[in-house]
Amino acid sequence: MKIRSALIVITSAFMLTAGAAVPATAGHSPHTLRALAKKTGVRIGSAVDADALAADRDYRRLLNRQFNHVTAENAKKWALVEPERGVFDWSGADAIVRNAKRNGQQIRGHTLLWHNQLPEWLTEGEPNFTTAELRSILRKHVFDVAGRYRGQIRAWDVVNEVVEDGGGFRNTLWFRRLGEGYIADMFRWAHQADPHAKLYINDYNLEWDTAKVQTTFEIVTDLLAAGVPIHGVGFQGHLGIQFDYPTAFPEHMKRFTDLGLEVAVTEADVRMVLPVTAEKEATQATYYQNLLRTCLENRKCTEFTTWGYTDRYQWVPGFFEGEGSAALFDEDLVPKPAYFALLALGRKK
Ligand code: XIL
Repeated sequence: MKIRSALIVITSAFMLTAGAAVPATAGHSPHTLRALAKKTGVRIGSAVDADALAADRDYRRLLNRQFNHVTAENAKKWALVEPERGVFDWSGADAIVRNAKRNGQQIRGHTLLWHNQLPEWLTEGEPNFTTAELRSILRKHVFDVAGRYRGQIRAWDVVNEVVEDGGGFRNTLWFRRLGEGYIADMFRWAHQADPHAKLYINDYNLEWDTAKVQTTFEIVTDLLAAGVPIHGVGFQGHLGIQFDYPTAFPEHMKRFTDLGLEVAVTEADVRMVLPVTAEKEATQATYYQNLLRTCLENRKCTEFTTWGYTDRYQWVPGFFEGEGSAALFDEDLVPKPAYFALLALGRKK
């Protein structure tokens, strides 16, 4: 009962202040994540669900009030933009770009190449394509997607999850058919298609998997040595509180920024084994806060993006059985302790 009424007080206090642009005063935390982003210079973003954006006004409002950066959660993936060969559906991706422009949000493009969410015409047709055909299909895809949004995307996840857990090139259809050179090709094509965008390699577990970091480091070093246009490394930041917090994260980030690259936390979420308890939410708050703190403490960390800001639309329950509550806001759009822990990082000392 006590927790519940405390929650109601916090919630109504939040509801009262969340809409107003109240300037942060000495000792106080900023009043929104956008205000924190402005204050710190690190962009704060969320993945956006295109269906929810269209259908749910409360979701849309809170997104636009809290975030100055967005990533289409699925809408730019190959299976969604080209469900049949040569037949395109840009509706979801365009709507997210339009909403971002209207609300002064910058955009992370996600993603030009992945081994998941590929269209069936491609995966099923693959054995019949020659290597040259497959390469030109991939090249065309980059120009189709990055070309359409040329000049409108701050940063692209050019390649996503190309390294195996535990190190080595991921054994995907791209690697098997085109060899490791496909990665350099992807960056060169993306740069031609959109010369203004920052081009990233993006992956999960880079916060702690040292072997995966090592392979990623070698790939990036080789690309830089060959003059390939790569500008950044994305740390997805999918964590769970049932695992120890990855304390190596700042060092891993530094390995890449020491090369002169920028970095970003691109898909942060912190899941837990259900049911939710106040204790688990308190632990979750420290995980979120540590992730953002690492970004704030590295001058080359440009962006901190969460993978869906509310449990109302969040991928974890569908992918990790028995787990959930991974976002900053619950299903009723009520902020959790993690949200306030992030804001607290903007408090004047
Ligand atoms: C996930 C989406 O959140 C889900 O809605 C979809 O069904 C599968 O993909 N790493 C990534 C993201 O780079 O694209 C994934 O997004 C989550 C893991």
